[in-house]
Amino acid sequence: MRIAILGAGYVGLVSGACFAEFGVQVALVDSDASKITALREGRIPIYEPGLDKLVADNVRDERLTFHDTLEEAMEGAEAVFLAVGTPSRRGDGHADLSYVFAAAEQVARAATRPLTLVTKSTVPVGTGRRIIDLIRPINPDIAVASNPEFLREGAAIGDFMRPDRVVIGTEDNALGTRALETLRRLYRPLYLIETPIVATSLETAEIIKYAANSFLAMKISFINEVANLCEAAGADVHDVARGIGLDGRIGRKFLHPGPGYGGSCFPKDTLAFARTAQDLGTPLRLIETTIAVNESRKEEMAHRVIAAFGGDVKGKRIAVLGLAFKPETDDMRDAPSLVVVPALMAAGAEVAAYDPEGTAFARQLLPAGVRFAASATAALEGADAAVLLTEWNEFRALPPERLKSAMRGDVFCDFRNVYDPVAMRAAGFTYLSIGRP
Ligand SMILES: NC(=O)c1ccc[n+]([C@@H]2O[C@H](COP(=O)([O-])OP(=O)(O)OC[C@H]3O[C@@H](n4cnc5c(N)ncnc54)[C@H](O)[C@@H]3O)[C@@H](O)[C@H]2O)c1
Repeated sequence: MRIAILGAGYVGLVSGACFAEFGVQVALVDSDASKITALREGRIPIYEPGLDKLVADNVRDERLTFHDTLEEAMEGAEAVFLAVGTPSRRGDGHADLSYVFAAAEQVARAATRPLTLVTKSTVPVGTGRRIIDLIRPINPDIAVASNPEFLREGAAIGDFMRPDRVVIGTEDNALGTRALETLRRLYRPLYLIETPIVATSLETAEIIKYAANSFLAMKISFINEVANLCEAAGADVHDVARGIGLDGRIGRKFLHPGPGYGGSCFPKDTLAFARTAQDLGTPLRLIETTIAVNESRKEEMAHRVIAAFGGDVKGKRIAVLGLAFKPETDDMRDAPSLVVVPALMAAGAEVAAYDPEGTAFARQLLPAGVRFAASATAALEGADAAVLLTEWNEFRALPPERLKSAMRGDVFCDFRNVYDPVAMRAAGFTYLSIGRP
């Protein structure tokens, strides 16, 4: 089986490499020529554990190829996937669908045989129908399907190879039946390991993706607010999370308190979901509140650091450990660091920052004046305070005494609760964490 994928970003590249690993012939195309050049030269444009090897293996075995032109990539393809970006539209928070519609139209014009156009990008309910309206006059023999992606950056390959479920939305007609058959065949290796396949309408599949992300984001905002309550009441949020999470109806995941969720999905998807619901006259008030809680959370983290200095950080040297929105990725999209670092600098602090993988993207996004250090200890050198924003494993391995001896001051704001409060205080730190006594 041959497929083509438009967009060689986090989702397109991971899905492409994984489908190739299943034995499918995958042709990837990206409108950014530099990405295709890099991939052809064996360079992976993003950091994702295991991806370099998976790509190299499948390129070597000639199942994964990279193309400049859509026509070339689509040659012989039974299905063409859209894995292009759907960022927040500037100004109103709706998903910007311009890349999706442009790509769909390109596919319709380039198609020379019956095929299935599969939207893997996260798109609001109704987008599949709009794609049909757009392309059917151009090419009546393209089936349109929705196949949202649920992979997590940092664990993307495992998530793609062993997903909790595969969701396939199709039209209720002969084209839909054909599309479902094609996608079932493509996902057969997952069906064989008993992955549930959820076959639905286009609209339902589109809502499943946003509802899933919004629910997870809501869990995070929920536990962050409970963490505030624990701080005020002298309770321990981790014990609360465990105490409620062991209840199978609640589940233990996504109950880890922190500086607010970020990344390429939750912030933009919660916002787009809320906007769609408002347009349809059925507001999602829980999601609107989830968004508001999260936005204020990031600002609040900067205030906590400033408050640790009695409200004045002018001239203070602050080491920021971790910039990417989570460990094991270099993705900086909507990372808490993009709010916390500028706020500290606006208050007069000098910031030295370190991230194991995110520095290259961070340089483009953080204010000029941030000093980027080559290691955690180099960032900590001479610092009055340290702020831990991303829980990379290498930070966990640093003994409190070593952290303390690298620094000038004694304030440590651990916004991921990586360290043991008792050990940190024993090492001489004024230690602040989240939701713990
Ligand atoms: N990143 C994630 O963890 C994740 C997880 C699940 C779903 N998603 C969704 O998947 C989609 C893609 O996300 P991403 O993080 O991979 O984005 P990305 O920005 O990393 O990649 C998108 C790629 O599409 C390319 N592109 C744009 N228009 C094109 C066109 N017409 N033809 C060919 N290439 C084109 C861009 O150059 C870019 O390389 C989004 O809708 C996102 O919400 C992302």
